[in-house]
Amino acid sequence: MTRFKKLLLTILISVSPLFAQVKGGITVPYIDFPMKEGKGMYSTKGKCNMCHSWGYTLNQGLQSKKFWQEKVMKMILIFKAPIEDKHIDEVVNYLFENYGNGELE
Ligand code: HEC
Repeated sequence: MTRFKKLLLTILISVSPLFAQVKGGITVPYIDFPMKEGKGMYSTKGKCNMCHSWGYTLNQGLQSKKFWQEKVMKMILIFKAPIEDKHIDEVVNYLFENYGNGELE
């Protein structure tokens, strides 16, 4: 192969993905995880669903108050969830009242 042909081939191979096309639309599955109605639901919705879906929270199952307290603190301290101190109790109470197992510890 001549140098020119090699060059041409290299160019063709490297630019061909630019012409790739997808026929038809792409649909991304949407899964809705409804939240239980309760005091503090709207506040919690705004604070807990901005980075990931409610599915993360639902997947934990029913848990103790201590568990939810620690989970909310983990979101704030490790992942930097913007939840002000004065709203922590409201969120923890919503979680415990609706997704609690009745145990404090
Ligand atoms: C600033 C972004 C952010 C916010 C806001 C946030 N989270 Fe998270 N959360 C994360 C990240 C990042 C992970 C870890 C994702 C992973 O491991 O795939 C996570 C994971 C989780 C998990 C999975 C278990 C675990 O411990 O990792 C739960 C449960 C959870 N979050 C609950 C909540 C709740 C409840 C709130 C509201 C108080 C909340 N999150 C708000 C970022 C956030």
